[in-house]
Amino acid sequence: MQLACTGSEAVENALRLAQHAQGRRRRGVAYATNSFHGKTRGALSVTDSPLCRATVRLPQGGVRVPFGDVAALAGLLRRDRSIGTVILEPVQGGAGIVVPPPGYLAAVRQLCDKHDVLWIADEVQSGCGRTGRFFAFEHEDVVPDIVTLAKSLGGGKAAIAATICTRAVARRAHRGSAALHHTPGTFAGTGEACATAITALNVLYDEGLLDNARIIGAYLTGELEALARRHPGLIAEVRGKGLMIGLEFTGAARAGLRALGPVASAMDRALPGGLAVAVGSLLKSEHSVLVGFTDYNRNVLRLQPPLGIEHKHVDQLVAALDDLLSRGALRLGADFLRTGRAPRAPGGACDAPGTPGAHRPRTPERTGSEQRAPGAPFSGERVRRRAAHPGARAAAP
Ligand SMILES: Cc1ncc(COP(=O)(O)O)c(C=O)c1O
Repeated sequence: MQLACTGSEAVENALRLAQHAQGRRRRGVAYATNSFHGKTRGALSVTDSPLCRATVRLPQGGVRVPFGDVAALAGLLRRDRSIGTVILEPVQGGAGIVVPPPGYLAAVRQLCDKHDVLWIADEVQSGCGRTGRFFAFEHEDVVPDIVTLAKSLGGGKAAIAATICTRAVARRAHRGSAALHHTPGTFAGTGEACATAITALNVLYDEGLLDNARIIGAYLTGELEALARRHPGLIAEVRGKGLMIGLEFTGAARAGLRALGPVASAMDRALPGGLAVAVGSLLKSEHSVLVGFTDYNRNVLRLQPPLGIEHKHVDQLVAALDDLLSRGALRLGADFLRTGRAPRAPGGACDAPGTPGAHRPRTPERTGSEQRAPGAPFSGERVRRRAAHPGARAAAP
């Protein structure tokens, strides 16, 4: 295991480890459409977003394959022997919470074994219990060769990330001496960050947060599906796993604005995701609920609340959404424009909407991988409390 401070670094370490293990002739890396793996150069070279890649000259060797498409990956690995690594998010986050078809990860494992390709599972967003299992790949009972973790590994408090690999990969990568020159940077795995991560992991298991993510996630999904049935013209899809949920809205042309004819289509072109932006913004200004967005699909709101969320917080969120959606698309747009308190644009993350171009409304603040229902604790709060009172720890299960 190698420790680092950010998810991007963990991905860099994973790519370097795979390259060492596979050797010069197999330096190619397959990555998925709409992937997001970070913003350092190596991570960007396997991140699909044109917005993030636009201004940077990237290392060569990345080949893009459609996410979730077994036949496409099989064809690529058969044709191109230079591909020694496949990097995939088991559930895509930045893409707008996209779960691959059942059996996809198992097929990826089989194909990688068949072609002697290493599989990096990027669990920076989907890991640490977010989907109801510690790793999202566990839902398909498979084991990747290399895994990356970050974000909630530090309990919402410490900057810590990890790259974990199998013993076989470590042996292959470290057979020369060069790998030792690539060990972590100055602040990677400091005692304080590790102590916080250990406390966060204890909280995760002692407080049953994996089960909670599964149970509350299923409840939230069910409530959102019921909401979608009440507002069929506005909500296109509810999808996800555990507490990693995407709520996809329709465009203006479908959202009850058909009467406007070509004007509605023009609105969709000029303001992609306008309805999601209005709902997300009003959720914050009127109901104090923060949600995430994504540049890849501007119609999606990302719901990734703290794993300790309770039924009552789901009820508050769903009531808030119901209140907003009952107004209809036209009034929602008008209310959004009237409030005029457009929150600051997100920090330019590709997994949130970057907002180049003056025509786009500014979108609500991004809060990393969490948003908070009114009254719900920030996820870091549990870890802070525990770190301050270590004796309060419940007995380990
Ligand atoms: C799947 C995935 N990998 C890597 C990263 C990069 O992590 P960081 O922002 O900590 O560099 C992210 C960030 O959103 C992510 O979602």
